[in-house]
Amino acid sequence: MELKSRHLLGLEGMSKDEIELILETAVSFKEVLNRPVKKVPTLQGFTICNLFFEASTRTRFSFELAQKRLSADTISFSSAGSSTSKGETLKDTARNIEAMKVDMVVVRHASAGSAQFLSERLQAHVINAGDGAHEHPTQGLLDLLTLKEKLGSLEGVRVILVGDITHSRVARSNVLGLQALGADVGVCGPPTFIPPHFDRLNVKIYHDIDEAIQNADALNILRIQLERQTLGLFPTVREYHEKFGVTRARLERASKPLIIMHPGPINRGVEVDSDVADSEHSVILDQVLNGVAIRMAVMYLLSLKN
Ligand code: CP
Repeated sequence: MELKSRHLLGLEGMSKDEIELILETAVSFKEVLNRPVKKVPTLQGFTICNLFFEASTRTRFSFELAQKRLSADTISFSSAGSSTSKGETLKDTARNIEAMKVDMVVVRHASAGSAQFLSERLQAHVINAGDGAHEHPTQGLLDLLTLKEKLGSLEGVRVILVGDITHSRVARSNVLGLQALGADVGVCGPPTFIPPHFDRLNVKIYHDIDEAIQNADALNILRIQLERQTLGLFPTVREYHEKFGVTRARLERASKPLIIMHPGPINRGVEVDSDVADSEHSVILDQVLNGVAIRMAVMYLLSLKN
């Protein structure tokens, strides 16, 4: 069994078997992360470039750490301080880096389709580390691994994504990955946050957070993108918290404890209260650790493809 593509652009079109291969490989690499010497020679001699045109903490550091754990040679690019600020295009930036004999490119960019654009123009393997509101496949995979660690099979498990679904690449990759593994997926938020086509994706739509909580085994709570507030998608942060904020009081009314997830960065007191984010039911930091193992697995499996 191997991955079909030599790039990871999204979870769209990825089979259950491929996703399970990545998750199983990540489980083996997670064992490496728990050793006193957390390093294997798997990608020795392999050169990887991290191209981050947008801010990132978790994704960027976990890719960089995963590369070190696999003994790859790495270079990292931030648009600030690079020739992008002098007008250089994405294509020219990537081709110049590739000319230095880079084998794999990890790219985060504000434009949907940027990872695919590079994959069509470079010889190097391309991994999408988040492209606009399109997909964030490694986040989707690490969320799947975290849920599987807690629940075993995801068949029939009810997972509800809460927040701004329309602008969320995390939501899109989660829906695709969860459905591939047989989970029962819902989304919850104000109507302005739910794309109209979602009712055709076999996704249950909730506009009432209390109803969503009653019907979920796990909540994946998304960051409210405060930078979008000027678009008038929600009246005020305080009102969003009152209507959709995940609070301990709301969770205590549920018939059983829910698994609490958040991809980060968290707006504490907006989409989720601190005592929920830091509670015994929160797996937020497990998600972060699993991010390293998933990225090791993805880079290793892609490196096997010509
Ligand atoms: N989850 C996630 O993508 O976080 P960063 O933006 O910090 O990478």
